[in-house]
Amino acid sequence: MKTKGWLIYEEKHAEKNKAFIEWFLGEANELGIKLDFILQSRISFGIQNNELVILLDQESIDSPDFVIMRNIDPLFNEQLERMRIPCFNSHHVSLICNDKARTHQYLAGKGISMLETYFTTADELLTGNRPLPFPFVIKTRTGRGGGDVYKVEDLQQLEAVHDQLSTRSIIAQPLAGIPGKDLRVYVLGREIVGAVLRSNQKSFKANFTLGGQAEAYSLTEEELNVVNKIIEQFDFGLVGIDFLFDEDGRLLFNEIEDVVGCRTLCITSNINIVKLYLEFILQKLSTGETFT
Ligand SMILES: Nc1ncnc2c1ncn2[C@@H]1O[C@H](COP(=O)(O)OP(=O)(O)O)[C@@H](O)[C@H]1O
Ligand SMILES: [Mg+2]
Repeated sequence: MKTKGWLIYEEKHAEKNKAFIEWFLGEANELGIKLDFILQSRISFGIQNNELVILLDQESIDSPDFVIMRNIDPLFNEQLERMRIPCFNSHHVSLICNDKARTHQYLAGKGISMLETYFTTADELLTGNRPLPFPFVIKTRTGRGGGDVYKVEDLQQLEAVHDQLSTRSIIAQPLAGIPGKDLRVYVLGREIVGAVLRSNQKSFKANFTLGGQAEAYSLTEEELNVVNKIIEQFDFGLVGIDFLFDEDGRLLFNEIEDVVGCRTLCITSNINIVKLYLEFILQKLSTGETFT
């Protein structure tokens, strides 16, 4: 019987990623996988008659053999796993990595360099409880794409950012040594598949979606060691591990993208990341490694 999978997106994200979704469906077909593209909004989940349940269009369904979750909802990832449906990425990866505070907390003390980081709110900083001198960077715990990241140089700028964020949970950090530059390392399971250096001359934020540049990057031995230390802490499917640079050009851990975009990898390499990901999933399913 054919392996059956679901590829789940929410509507807005799906619109922007049509080509990527088509690519998934095409490669799945080549590999003999029946992969269905499903919007999260068609799914309900919870408990029925004391049992965990997932409904599609309000109907009960045959469970898929695996799910590729390209939406951020760790509670759903956990529901799948509790129903013994392997989910990529796992609920643990989704829960930790979609929260910048949790990610820093989880990786601290494990020999991975990262900036001094505080978990706070703009309210708290404005009332004078500021563990860092100006200038510093603040960002919401759950922000993506650079939209909720601010450089704050003085009280006036803090007040302006406070208007935006007030009581939202944020992290605060000093400015990294080399602003406007960061490194994304694409990881599949325990393997590093590629690395992309992203830079922006016009902003301290290197996000590609904000108009940054991207180029292929070869990791040094020392950098490989750092990435491998992070890989050891998780059971990843496909993720992007992002780093800032200190003033000596050394890696500082920044964040892990659970629902990682692959555009920069595609334009800087010939790696067929989608095929590799599906093959990785088939391999995991065949060895029954998904629930160890
Ligand atoms: N502490 C910092 N110092 C300097 N630049 C930073 C710092 N934090 C983030 N940046 C820059 O801002 C960009 C976006 O921040 P990031 O933490 O990656 O949030 P997002 O999840 O929105 O991408 C980073 O890629 C980096 O270029
Ligand atoms: Mg980022």
